[in-house]
Amino acid sequence: MRGRSREAHRGTVDHPAAGGALRHPGSNAGPAGALSLSETTVKTHVARIFAKRGLRDRAQAVVVAYETGLVRAGDGLSKALRRASVRGRDGPRPRTVSARRLGGMTFIVTTGATGRLGGRIAARLAAAGAEQRLVSRAAGRVPQLDRASAISADYGDPEAMRRALDKATTVLFVSASESADRLDRHRTFVDVARDAGVTHLVYISFYGASPSATFTLARDHWATEQHIRDSGLPFTFLRDSLYADFLPSMAGEDGVIRGPAGQGRVAAVAQDDIADAAAAVLLDPGAHEGATYDLTGPRAMTLDEVAATLSRATGRTVTYHPETLEEAYESRRVYGAPDWQVDAWVSTYLAIAAGELEGVSDAIPALTGHPATTFEELLAKI
Ligand SMILES: NC(=O)c1ccc[n+]([C@@H]2O[C@H](COP(=O)([O-])OP(=O)(O)OC[C@H]3O[C@@H](n4cnc5c(N)ncnc54)[C@H](OP(=O)(O)O)[C@@H]3O)[C@@H](O)[C@H]2O)c1
Repeated sequence: MRGRSREAHRGTVDHPAAGGALRHPGSNAGPAGALSLSETTVKTHVARIFAKRGLRDRAQAVVVAYETGLVRAGDGLSKALRRASVRGRDGPRPRTVSARRLGGMTFIVTTGATGRLGGRIAARLAAAGAEQRLVSRAAGRVPQLDRASAISADYGDPEAMRRALDKATTVLFVSASESADRLDRHRTFVDVARDAGVTHLVYISFYGASPSATFTLARDHWATEQHIRDSGLPFTFLRDSLYADFLPSMAGEDGVIRGPAGQGRVAAVAQDDIADAAAAVLLDPGAHEGATYDLTGPRAMTLDEVAATLSRATGRTVTYHPETLEEAYESRRVYGAPDWQVDAWVSTYLAIAAGELEGVSDAIPALTGHPATTFEELLAKI
């Protein structure tokens, strides 16, 4: 039986790290999306669309670039055409593309739409008027949203994913549920996305993703990021810290949070904030190409502080017991989980102890225009 306390006790979390600074390697775009694209970027977008879509001429690729948000209407079509070197016989004159098309419907393939995070993002995109194709392993489970269709596909099923990504441009890629072969599924999905001609992939990664991260699953996130980089797909990585929404469930039925986190700190982030940030990126992908954003809460907390905050907010006494490593493995042995999974559960806490989740980034306010939600504010809402 997998009760709430079991979930809580094992403390499964899917990500951790260091640094904390907003990283944005792209030279042509800022986190608030206020900057225009460089000529090189416009040309790259257009060339990629042209090559992948089998379009008749490059001007059509420019139109696709506009419609999908890769090229901004603010640039002006003639400027984009000039930048893309498509003026002349093989391209339409600027007047042939109407203003309606320039400001045309954004189409996004949204994975994870049945989940807590992807569902939030899908709802925001729908509210913004985007057209979506919602992907789930069981399409019947996806939420009913305006301008949204549903399709069944597993990341690890190339045939199904080819259908899901048919004619896709911007794609939200929510990391899969934990499994022994998750990385293989991720790689399969990325390969299909590359072959489908996807023009921008937004991947939900984990804070501090690195081959040497203490949190074992953060290594898989890094490997997924590397595979995306190697694929040549334009991307944005959203490296989420521990979900703050998840913290209440870390306390067992006895009100004790148990784990080997020592007095380390975690800048846990609200899923609503991640969803706001992800929606901003997905609705203006070209402005965030090549960027890696660390998405964290506004303050790093020890688990003692988490417990005290939970106690104040709920009226129930919650405490933190810093386990030793031996205690952590022993107390989780009862679940009979495979070694990789127990390692993931335990290493979530070890990453906190190691200070790998204490960094605080300014990416949430920069991307969303509002401050990151505090843990107290989050608890007041749920
Ligand atoms: N940062 C953290 O603290 C933390 C904690 C836990 C998990 N995570 C990671 O963040 C992701 C999103 O979190 P969440 O709270 O939204 O999780 P969630 O509520 O469990 O949702 C996971 C979503 O991913 C989809 N999915 C899972 N495996 C898939 C596969 N093999 N192929 C296609 N779709 C698949 C599910 O769709 P269907 O089930 O409908 O197919 C579901 O919509 C998780 O999947 C996990 O990788 C992060």
